[in-house]
Amino acid sequence: MSTKKEHHSNLQQLHIDKNRIPKHVAIIMDGNGRWAQKRRLPRLVGHRAGVENLREIIEVSAEIGIKILTLYAFSTENWKRPKVEIDALMNLLVEYLNKEIKVLHQKNIKIIAIGDIYSLPPKPQKAVLQAIDLTRDNTGLLVNIALNYSGRNELVYAFKRLFSDVQKGILQIENVNEKTIGNYLYTAELSDPDLLIRTSGELRISNFLLWQLAYTEFWFTDILWPDFKKEHLLKAIYSYQKRERRYGAVSNNIKEE
Ligand code: IPE
Ligand code: IPE
Ligand code: MG
Repeated sequence: MSTKKEHHSNLQQLHIDKNRIPKHVAIIMDGNGRWAQKRRLPRLVGHRAGVENLREIIEVSAEIGIKILTLYAFSTENWKRPKVEIDALMNLLVEYLNKEIKVLHQKNIKIIAIGDIYSLPPKPQKAVLQAIDLTRDNTGLLVNIALNYSGRNELVYAFKRLFSDVQKGILQIENVNEKTIGNYLYTAELSDPDLLIRTSGELRISNFLLWQLAYTEFWFTDILWPDFKKEHLLKAIYSYQKRERRYGAVSNNIKEE
């Protein structure tokens, strides 16, 4: 059984151009609740399966040469969920980091986070900050966790600091351009995502990376996050590679960055 599956994924891989792997892939990991519901299990079991799925996806991403993997783990809107679910999600995050951080570190993976990390409860906050600190000098795959993240909040936070710098005279209003605004975002150090994947069939971005997705290629799938495996990631990359990124230009006049 696994041989057939492996054969299938290897075939998929054959079609992938190793020289045109998207540098930055962002994933909206959605559908844990429905995955559990389908099995008549509590939502928490779905979240656990979702967290367990990270190992394979991070491993494949590193293996095929993705440089930045941004994972939407918890949005500011997710605080609207029942307290038991939120607590379970926070506990899973702490558990995951405690369990996996050594292996991630050994694999030269660097962890960073975007979002309002300092408003997280103390335990998850500490676990995230420790993971960032431990892996800060690593040079392999950058795993960027979007935690307590909202695209609009990010913009509000950026504009506030930008206005404050203008007021202080650190920045001249005439000099504000797209790059300046980009520099005030959580993602200042990162290139924009080349590919955005959303699982579970929802066709929206749910307040994710509003500024950064301006020219990102989107790939949607009905697969629920706990079922999203190597072959699906490769399929998304294959689809990405077949597309032509025009950036507003005409076909034969594209300047890739
Ligand atoms: C994604 O799965 C995980 C988080 C948003 C934290 P969901 O919990 O949203 O799963 P569905 O959408 O209810 O199936
Ligand atoms: C988006 O999923 C956020 C994460 C995956 C962390 P949601 O399940 O919260 O999004 P909506 O509510 O369906 O838009
Ligand atoms: Mg959802």
